Amino acid sequence: MERTKIKALLELGTSPGQVLVKGWVRTKRDSKDFSFLEINDGSCLANIQVIAGNDLANYEDVQRLTTGSAVGITGELVESPGKGQKWEIQAGSAEVISIAPEDYPLQKKRHSDEFLRSIAHLRPRTNKYGAAFRIRSEMAYAIHKFYRDKGFRYLTSPLITGSDCEGAGEMFRVTSLSPAQVAEDGKMDFGKDFFGQESNLTVSGQLSAEMFALSLGDVYTFGPTFRAENSNTSRHVAEFWMLEPEMAFCDLAGNMDHGEELVKTLVGHAMEHCEADMNLFGKFVDKSLPALLKTLMDEEFARLPYTDAIEILEKSGKKFEFPVAYGIDLQSEHERFLAEEYFKKPVFLINYPREIKPFYMRMNDDEKTVAAMDLLVPRIGELIGGSQREERLDRLEARMDEMNLPKDDYWWYLDSRRYGTAPHSGFGLGFERFLMMITGITNIRDVIPFPRTPGSIDF
Ligand code: 4AD
Ligand code: MG
Repeated sequence: MERTKIKALLELGTSPGQVLVKGWVRTKRDSKDFSFLEINDGSCLANIQVIAGNDLANYEDVQRLTTGSAVGITGELVESPGKGQKWEIQAGSAEVISIAPEDYPLQKKRHSDEFLRSIAHLRPRTNKYGAAFRIRSEMAYAIHKFYRDKGFRYLTSPLITGSDCEGAGEMFRVTSLSPAQVAEDGKMDFGKDFFGQESNLTVSGQLSAEMFALSLGDVYTFGPTFRAENSNTSRHVAEFWMLEPEMAFCDLAGNMDHGEELVKTLVGHAMEHCEADMNLFGKFVDKSLPALLKTLMDEEFARLPYTDAIEILEKSGKKFEFPVAYGIDLQSEHERFLAEEYFKKPVFLINYPREIKPFYMRMNDDEKTVAAMDLLVPRIGELIGGSQREERLDRLEARMDEMNLPKDDYWWYLDSRRYGTAPHSGFGLGFERFLMMITGITNIRDVIPFPRTPGSIDF
C-alpha cells in the first residue's frame, strides 16, 4: 500500500477507507485497552490521531513508542468523535520503524529559539519551524510562478565571479591555492590560482541579469549570494538568497510599481496557500502580524526622496544611536522609524546621494543623487535595494573613473552600453528578510535552514 500524506488526508471530504501513513510520534497517551498516538509527517502543521488497540499483534511494541519515534500505521480513516480533529485512524496494523531514546531533545514543552538554533538539524520537527520552512518552500514556488505568469525568464547567474557588483568589499575569496603555497610565496599570487585572477563568491547576480535583460527583456535571478559582512545582527547572514528581477525599458517608477506588485502577490499567495502555517505565526509568534499583512496587501506603499526622509528623521525628536544628517547611509533604526512609526506601512526611499551608492546607479539631473530605491518595511527595515541603471556609456565610465574601478575588467559590462543600450531597472529582494516579515520571526537565523554567520558554520 502506498503511503498517504497527512495533509492530503485532512483535506479529504470523505473517508477513502484503508490508508497508510508514516510519520513521527508527537505524543502518546495510554489507556487500559488503547494507545492514542499523535502522528506528524511534516506535510502540514496538523497531526493525525491514531487509535491503536490492544488487539494489535505487536501492541507491546506500540506501547514502547516514544516522542520522536518513527511509525507506519495502516488502518481505517474514520470521522473522529473527539474534539479538535475531524479524522482519526483506527489502526489495523502498526509498524514500529524506530524508537527514539528518552534523551530525544524535542520533548513536548516550549523550547527557546536560542536552544532550537543549537539543534538546527532537529528544529524543523517542531510546529513553528516546520511551518516556517513549509512557508519558505511555498514562497520560492510563488516567486517562480509570479515571474512565469508575467513572462519573465529565469536566469541562473554564476556564484563564482571575478567582479564586485556592490563594491562594498564584503566578498569571500575563492581559491584553489593551499595555505602552504601562499605562505611559500609570501603573498597570494593570483596568476597561479585556478582562474588566473582574483575570484570571489558573488554578492549579487545583478551584472549578469543586466546583460540578459538587455537580451531577453525581463529576467530574474533567484539564488544564493554571499557577504563577508562581519555584522552580527538579527538581519544579516553570510549566505542568503536574493531575488533579483531586471527589466529592460523600465524606469525607477516602473521598478517601484513592480516591487510593490511582487510583495503584494507573494503575501497574498502565502495567505491563500499556507493558511494554517501562517495562522500559527499570527497567533503564537506575533499578534500584530495579521494587521501588518493586511497593510501590505491593501495599502499603497509610500514613496519619498531620501532628502525628505532625512528631514523627517531630523524633525522626529527621536534619539537615534546613529545621528542623522544628509549623506549618511541609513541605519536599521532609521529605516524602521520611517516604515514602522512614521508611515506605518512600507515606504520606498528614492534618489540617494551618489556617494553612498554603487557605481551602476543612474545619475539624476541634479548630479548629486542617483536613481536608487530601497523599500523599507515595518519591523525589518530594508527589504529591497535597487535602482534604475546608468545606461549612458559616458556617464558610466566617468563614474567608474571617479570610484577608481578598473574599467578593463568590466569591458563586457560597458559593451552593453555601447551596443543597443537602453534604460533598464531592477532590484534585489532579500528572501530571508521577506520571510521574517511575513512570519513575524525576528531573527534571520530562524528562517534559513542552517544559518551561516560570523564564527558559526555548524551543520
Ligand atoms: O541592497 P543590496 O545590497 O542590493 C544589491 O545587491 C543589488 N545588486 C540588487 C539589485 O539591484 N539587483 O541587497 C539587496 C537585498 C537587501 O535589500 C536585503 O534585503 C538583502 O538583499 N540583504 C541581505 N539579507 C540577508 N543578509 C545579508 N547580509 C544581506 N545583505 C543584503
Ligand atoms: Mg541595500
